[in-house]
Amino acid sequence: MTRLALFGGPPIVPGPLPEYPSIGVEERLAVQRVVESGCLSAFHGSPGANFLGGVMVRAFEEAWCRRFGVSHAVSMNSATSGLIAAVGAAGIGPGDEVIVPPWTMSATVAAPLFYGAIPVFADIEADTFCLDPAAVRACITPRTRAILAVNLFGQPASLFALKEIARQHSLLLIEDNAQGPLAALDGRYAGTIGDIGVFSLNFHKHVHTGEGGMCVTNDDRLATRLQLIRNHAESIVEGLDVHSLVNMVGFNFRMTELSAAIGIEQLKKIDRHVERREALARALTAAIADLRGLVAPIVRQGARHVYYVWAIRVEESVVGVSRNLLSRALAAEGFVNATGYVRPLYLLPLFQQRIAIGGAGYPFTLAESVSYAKGICPVVERLHERELILYETCASDIDDRSTGLLCDALRKVYRHRDELRARGAEMAGRA
Ligand SMILES: Cc1ncc(COP(=O)(O)O)c(C=O)c1O
Repeated sequence: MTRLALFGGPPIVPGPLPEYPSIGVEERLAVQRVVESGCLSAFHGSPGANFLGGVMVRAFEEAWCRRFGVSHAVSMNSATSGLIAAVGAAGIGPGDEVIVPPWTMSATVAAPLFYGAIPVFADIEADTFCLDPAAVRACITPRTRAILAVNLFGQPASLFALKEIARQHSLLLIEDNAQGPLAALDGRYAGTIGDIGVFSLNFHKHVHTGEGGMCVTNDDRLATRLQLIRNHAESIVEGLDVHSLVNMVGFNFRMTELSAAIGIEQLKKIDRHVERREALARALTAAIADLRGLVAPIVRQGARHVYYVWAIRVEESVVGVSRNLLSRALAAEGFVNATGYVRPLYLLPLFQQRIAIGGAGYPFTLAESVSYAKGICPVVERLHERELILYETCASDIDDRSTGLLCDALRKVYRHRDELRARGAEMAGRA
């Protein structure tokens, strides 16, 4: 039996896996055509036809609408921009509360702050890692205006339950679907169930344009407001049929023709890219099927999980080795990104010190009763501190050989758990 790489043995994955090669000749030719046209962006920040961008941007948005069955797709230069625009389009303002999960990329919880709104953290479900509807209910106050749910790791949140809560309390449901293109729940695409859905097209996503994002909605009014916030609303809104000036102050969140041209080609390949990640996840799950104490990803009933991240739980008492030691051993074998996800976001200095916009504590001064203390979301803290191991499926290219190596790494580390326990205790004693 070969030694663990952590203790000097040869690693199972001998070097970095190949780069994610999703850009092909089709994208290259599309970019070339745009460059040859001489028009790299056709947006104007003034009233008129070009307020909505050029031919590629519009074609990309139309293709996205067709693929996801929505009435409006509004491209952005990132999902971060899309999230800010979504909060703005929803009419959210200073002191309003937005319920968010503590496990997501920081942009989800930062977006409300730009409008002076207060992120309120609700805990997550221990098995799916997405917002727990019961925890969301417990966070609702008269100041709550929206639920910003994240389809984390490529799995839809409990979207219909959240939508029902939103309906009962007259809230908006915004879906951060950055990680979940083609994820679905009961036959509906994730991202299209809430009032607005936001997709990411950054380099690490299933399909990408380098940087980019897409907001989708079936609401004409919200679509216009998204378009305005994307492109200098204040100078354009006057001539349009927009009834409220709330948040009609815009940005430059516009996508270039180059990115849109790449996006059109990427969208044609989306099934293949998503299916490859699903196949990797299936193989990793099969590799741990008989390893007691490693709990495979749990897919919500009726859901399609598209595995931006393959995430499992370690039951330390069953395996007999701490999650941290297991993931160190896995990392040494070349199974990268193993330990946990982000720290629960309310523990960031931003929330602990309550300093966001300016130095006087705005907007937190508007909601001093909202707590960001350690312990407010015990499920996420337990998962973060002791249980989660993950593999980012979009971090590298995956062929059959790499898949096999990653599976072997998991099984090798598990096989050596007694040695790991013994030597881990020794290492801890020396530290
Ligand atoms: C859940 C989530 N939300 C938002 C973002 C931000 O996406 P972008 O990099 O396109 O701004 C990401 C990016 O990884 C994400 O994973």
